[in-house]
Amino acid sequence: SDPDLVARARAAKAALGDSVFVLGHHYQRDEVIEFADVTGDSFKLARDAAARPDAPYIVFCGVHFMAESADILTSAEQTVILPDLAAGCSMADMAAIAQVEDCWEQLEAAGVAGRTVPVTYMNSSAAIKAFTGRHGGTICTSSNARTALDWAFEQVGGLEGDGKVLFLPDQHLGRNTAVRELGLTLDDCVVWDPHRPGGGLTAQQLADARMILWRGHCSVHGRFSVEAVETARREIPGVKVIVHPECRYEVVERADEVGSTEKIIQTIAAAPDGTSWVVGTELNLVRRLAAQFPKQRIAFLEKNVCYCSTMNRIDLPHLVWALESLVEGRVVNPIRVDPQVAADARSALDRMLALPG
Ligand code: 13P
Ligand code: SF4
Repeated sequence: SDPDLVARARAAKAALGDSVFVLGHHYQRDEVIEFADVTGDSFKLARDAAARPDAPYIVFCGVHFMAESADILTSAEQTVILPDLAAGCSMADMAAIAQVEDCWEQLEAAGVAGRTVPVTYMNSSAAIKAFTGRHGGTICTSSNARTALDWAFEQVGGLEGDGKVLFLPDQHLGRNTAVRELGLTLDDCVVWDPHRPGGGLTAQQLADARMILWRGHCSVHGRFSVEAVETARREIPGVKVIVHPECRYEVVERADEVGSTEKIIQTIAAAPDGTSWVVGTELNLVRRLAAQFPKQRIAFLEKNVCYCSTMNRIDLPHLVWALESLVEGRVVNPIRVDPQVAADARSALDRMLALPG
């Protein structure tokens, strides 16, 4: 990266000292990660933000929903800054609050809302998290989806009963967790399509379902294919395939390991030297893993380049701008969630943080 910008970022961070805390998601560029005080997956970063009550400014190098969650979990005196407001998430955008409210009304009309608990992936807007809080549900991340689903089913009579989970907005994480970890079947899962009347489901399908999966997905992880897994197995003898649970069910089924970004890193770090891996997650992380663990052979699961374009919006120029502005006494791009929305969302986030494990 540009040495002038690197020097400016260093100088600004030194001038700000402990008044600023920089969080970096694993999918961020190397040039940004270099200035992160901590790195992590979305679960770890939410906890890390909450654990820093003394820092008046939190600069969040990640995407908008993560910065919102950090704002909700930190005190009113702290300000969360997102260096580029265009760093959104296409998956989070697939569930608009009006669509979700409409879905819930239809579940009420169908007589199933009373035995349904919403479980919402971290990758969602604050408004959807607030909806989840208002209806007694919890947030989950890819690290604790199983625990969150166990908890949710307990609220409606356990796995053996006829209670349901409305899982938002990533159908793949919901399906993969329910089928592979809870022992539900693919037939127990239905997909609610917000663009079709009644979600595209019949009353019978809705009545029989255990998991109502929102029709959302990650545009990055959704691209990994069964063919790519098969090609890797053909081309690399003894290869281990590790993928993120946002990948499609067929892909996850054919992988050796599945886990959040944090789990992917730990698994590769713990593997014996000389192990070959192909990794199905965002490319910045895969490249960093390859550089960090030169004794492993680490390759990307797709032949094509596949960055998360919105994660990549946060680059060194934006970070320098955010930090230097603070040095000059100006706050740029603060993320401030409406207090009522934040209070409702907080109840759902607190339920997640109280989950065992
Ligand atoms: P985790 O950080 O929870 O693994 O999520 C991956 C992701 O897609 C974040 O946007
Ligand atoms: Fe959203 Fe996928 Fe990018 Fe994560 S990787 S921010 S889920 S689009």
